[in-house]
Amino acid sequence: MIGIDIEEVKRFNKYLKNSKIIKRIFSQEEIDYSYSKKNVAQHLAVRFAAKEAAWKALSCKNRKIGITDIKIINNKYGKPEVFIKNKKNTKMDLSISHTDKYAVAVAIFL
Ligand SMILES: CC(C)(COP(=O)(O)OP(=O)(O)OC[C@H]1O[C@@H](n2cnc3c(N)ncnc32)[C@H](O)[C@@H]1OP(=O)(O)O)[C@@H](O)C(=O)NCCC(=O)NCCS
Repeated sequence: MIGIDIEEVKRFNKYLKNSKIIKRIFSQEEIDYSYSKKNVAQHLAVRFAAKEAAWKALSCKNRKIGITDIKIINNKYGKPEVFIKNKKNTKMDLSISHTDKYAVAVAIFL
C-alpha cells in the first residue's frame, strides 16, 4: 500500500514560535535533526508529511497508530526511514523532498 502527503512550509514556520506544539508533534530526534539544519521549518514540515504518508500507507491495516507513534530518522547515508512504536517488523519505504514553500513525502508499506 502507498501513502502520500504534501505540507505548506509556512505552517511550520508559525509552529517554530511555539515549542509546545513542536514537542507534541515531533520526537526529540526529529527536532534535533531539523534544528541542526539551516531551514528548520522545511525539515519539520517534511517530517510531518512523512508521518502522514506513512500513516496513509498503513491505515488500511491499523487505525490505532497515531501520528506521534511514527518517527522519521535518517540513516547513515541520509535516507529517511520510518519507525513505528511497538512495531519493529513493519517495513516501509519512504522518499521525501522539500522547497521553501512545500514539503512532500511518499511512503510504501512493503
Ligand atoms: C540527496 C539529494 C538527492 C537530495 O536532493 P535535493 O534536491 O538536494 O533535496 P530534496 O528536498 O529533494 O531532498 C532532501 C531529502 O533527501 C533525503 N535524502 C538525503 N540523502 C538521501 C539518500 N542517500 N537516499 C534517499 N534520500 C536521501 C533526505 O531525507 C533529505 O531531507 P531531510 O534532510 O529533511 O531528511 C542531494 O542532496 C544529493 O546529495 N545529491 C547528490 C548528487 C547526485 O548524485 N544527484 C543525482 C542523483 S541520481
